[in-house]
Amino acid sequence: MTISRISRPSIGAIGILLAASAIPLQHAWGNDDEEYHVDYIYGVPFEPSAAWQLSSGGRIYDNWFNALGIDEPESTHPTWPSTNTTESGSTTWRCKSCHGWDYKGADGQYGSGDYKTGFAGVSHMTGRTPSDLVKILSDANHQYSDEMIPNEARVRIGVFLSEGMHDTDVHIADDGKVLGDAEAGKAVFQNVCAACHGFDGRAIDWGDDDEPAFVGTEAKANPWEVLHKIRNGHPGHEMVSLRAFPIEDAVNTLAYTQTLPEE
Ligand code: HEC
Ligand code: HEC
Repeated sequence: MTISRISRPSIGAIGILLAASAIPLQHAWGNDDEEYHVDYIYGVPFEPSAAWQLSSGGRIYDNWFNALGIDEPESTHPTWPSTNTTESGSTTWRCKSCHGWDYKGADGQYGSGDYKTGFAGVSHMTGRTPSDLVKILSDANHQYSDEMIPNEARVRIGVFLSEGMHDTDVHIADDGKVLGDAEAGKAVFQNVCAACHGFDGRAIDWGDDDEPAFVGTEAKANPWEVLHKIRNGHPGHEMVSLRAFPIEDAVNTLAYTQTLPEE
């Protein structure tokens, strides 16, 4: 299968780094009533598969404090440009806020809009050694402490950056139209996503009274974000990840979600 093929070369490096990790995160099989939900969201399986490590790294890239269950920073990130006064506070500490849902930074969707920073993307990191990427998080641009992102979690971001990013241009056109098979995606949506989001995607609303936000709303407004979340899950919540399956399944599901009601 694709996953084992792309992931095998780095397993040795991951093993060594995990063994060297000073701060153990919670490990559990996850079978103790309510604890089980907490373990699913914040824990680490005893024997993490390559696909789980990639999706976990993707969730940390999305929002490390929600993914790890750590208090969110109150300050604005010291590197956040003063020219951007639209965003401030904890969101400026999320990897995606400076580097984008499309991993292209200033060359992608965040070249304009609320999250414009002018910073480069991270897509050129594909194929790099995860341990080299771990070091970047302590440099002057980043300044993450061990309390913010423990080493074990950094390793998973490293693996994600090395092997887990997709080229969004292959799957999503510039105008946001998804280059996938919505009919095939319907099967995934109805059998997997609908368990929580309902058949029309409106069972969970993360908007407000004036502006509802459903799967259909988000898929139209920001397909780059939704593809990232379908592949990796949604940090801090019990949402599935399609990481164990070929990316086509995620892309097709995304194409179908663009046909769902937006309000
Ligand atoms: C406040 C903005 C900001 C945030 C948040 C941020 N970065 Fe960066 N990152 C930068 C800047 C600035 C650079 C240097 C590139 C540039 O100047 O455009 C950079 C570069 C990188 C590079 C490339 C380094 C190289 O050698 O090319 C990687 C990898 C990276 N960041 C990963 C991450 C990860 C992972 C996170 C989240 C844990 C993160 N960044 C969060 C600002 C940020
Ligand atoms: C086990 C339940 C569950 C399943 C299955 C599930 N989700 Fe979710 N999803 C959630 C929860 C919970 C949230 C968080 C909602 C919130 O922020 O209040 C969420 C959030 C989302 C978001 C929005 C995130 C945001 O805030 O921007 C999208 C988009 C999404 N899900 C799409 C999907 C798709 C597509 C599938 C199928 C591949 C899926 N979900 C499967 C539970 C689920």
